[in-house]
Amino acid sequence: MSKLFVMDHPLIKHKITMLRSKETSVKDFRELAYEISLLMGYEATKDLTLEEIDVETPLVKTKGYAIEKQVAIVPILRAGLGMVDAFTSLIPAAKVGHIGLYRDHETLQPVEYYCKLPTDIEKRQVLVTDPMLATGGSAAAAIQFIKDRGAKKIKLVCLIGAPEGIKAVQDAHPDVDIYVGALDEKLNENGYIVPGLGDAGDRLFGTL
Ligand code: PRP
Ligand code: URA
Repeated sequence: MSKLFVMDHPLIKHKITMLRSKETSVKDFRELAYEISLLMGYEATKDLTLEEIDVETPLVKTKGYAIEKQVAIVPILRAGLGMVDAFTSLIPAAKVGHIGLYRDHETLQPVEYYCKLPTDIEKRQVLVTDPMLATGGSAAAAIQFIKDRGAKKIKLVCLIGAPEGIKAVQDAHPDVDIYVGALDEKLNENGYIVPGLGDAGDRLFGTL
């Protein structure tokens, strides 16, 4: 069964509160999304397996570690892009795939318009990023596309999640662990997360 990790770190709580505020500028929103993603990336990579390697310090030869399984970061366009730089700062050797999906405003159903993934995706630990997990339609569809292309180990990392979206992803993909910076109360009648932060893509890219 999929595990749900809700972040409990004071820095994350503080920064998510700033992210929510309607007074937060586009510049600050981007910086906060980066900083929260960095902190969440630390949590989401805690179980990466290590191999022992040799390393030579200026003094002696000793044993060290290298990450064994390679990583792929897959943002769901557009808003997932706002989390990528933080993850590639943590794991510079990670490859980055992209999945383009948008939610049809009438039906709330995800519509795919782009998909380009690393060719060796089946060997990689995949970290799917999207700031918002609302109905879960976009994340569940993105995960299915990634599985269809061979990926076997996938985690989903979102800044804010609604209970409805978490359940939808867990039902569709019980093998995928979910990390959320905050677990919000509900969705409103337009499928927006409440209290949420509004439209993450618009706030990141200034298209309000
Ligand atoms: C937002 C968000 C998620 C999706 C969440 O993207 O970034 O991808 O909605 O909603 P869901 O869980 O109900 O599917 P949006 O469709 O607004 O596209 P954008 O990132 O291009 O703005
Ligand atoms: N997408 C967003 O950007 N915000 C929401 O609250 C729900 C979906």
